[in-house]
Amino acid sequence: MTAAPLDTSFPKLELHMHLEGAAPPAFIAGLAREKSIDISGIFDGHGNYRFRDFDDFLKVYEAACTTLQSPEDFYRLTLAVLEQSAKHGVIYTESFISPDFCGGADLVAWRAYLAAIEEAADEAERRFGIMMKGIVTCVRHFGADQAKKAAHCAAETAGNFVVGFGMGGAETMGRTADFAYSFDMAREAGLHLTSHAGEWGGAEMVRETLHHLKVSRLGHGFQCIDDPDVLQEVIEKGIVLELCPGSNVALNAVPSWETHPIEKLRAAGAKITVSSDDPPFFLSDMTYEFTQLAKVFGWGETQFAQVQDIAVQAAFCDEDTRATLAKRIAA
Ligand code: ADE
Ligand code: ZN
Repeated sequence: MTAAPLDTSFPKLELHMHLEGAAPPAFIAGLAREKSIDISGIFDGHGNYRFRDFDDFLKVYEAACTTLQSPEDFYRLTLAVLEQSAKHGVIYTESFISPDFCGGADLVAWRAYLAAIEEAADEAERRFGIMMKGIVTCVRHFGADQAKKAAHCAAETAGNFVVGFGMGGAETMGRTADFAYSFDMAREAGLHLTSHAGEWGGAEMVRETLHHLKVSRLGHGFQCIDDPDVLQEVIEKGIVLELCPGSNVALNAVPSWETHPIEKLRAAGAKITVSSDDPPFFLSDMTYEFTQLAKVFGWGETQFAQVQDIAVQAAFCDEDTRATLAKRIAA
């Protein structure tokens, strides 16, 4: 007897996706052609992004971003990305958006780029039934001074669409405490906070990030499992982990799906959610993430519903939106 095919078409929330990182390679290749930019080296023979390791991934990512040069480019990007996400059942997405890639973290330029992203998000909501909120993001390896500029952009545009501030990039570069000023500025502007930590920097980086940046969510954060005290702190404080297992496997942050600690973290009582990070880079999408979780860890309706419930509670949105999302996932 063959098992019934697993239904992964349920409505999903995604809390951790980078807007530029979700750019389909064909979209970036098209922009490069239009602008006569030679970035052919970032693609493999199948037209997919090609990278060797995490450092190389960041270089390829930044090379792809050189083709995104105007608010109009970001309008097209946002619409294309949200259409893709909606195809995988995503009804709500929190996307990282980086002032550094939108006019060099200049506030005047940022306002224009953000307006275009927001306009595309409105259009996507009408056409594809997906809602997007923005988490303005600084890039750790660009340094603490540049992070302050991104935080200033975030603070000045905080509101119904920009709901959070975060940090991505090379986690092992720079001192975490040096970014506290930026996170304080964002917090004072009423923004919710998340930071990548515990993807590469170990449990100690999780501890530092909680103490210095006082975030309520962690991008990845799975390495907290390597220190029982840090794991306990994550659980006791109710810190939400934005887990992206497909990304971790593709970047070799873990050796395989089988060794990913996601199920151990869930069983230990950590608040876990599931996201795709930079889906085309990792040949992933939200359907793939959940299909793998079912295959590798035997997840089914109970676990799917559990992570979606946590995501609704952890979303950085307003309470009316949260109530609407709760109804939609329960329907
Ligand atoms: N930026 C985009 N994807 C990232 C990741 N997985 N880790 C850190 N920074 C990122
Ligand atoms: Zn990420």
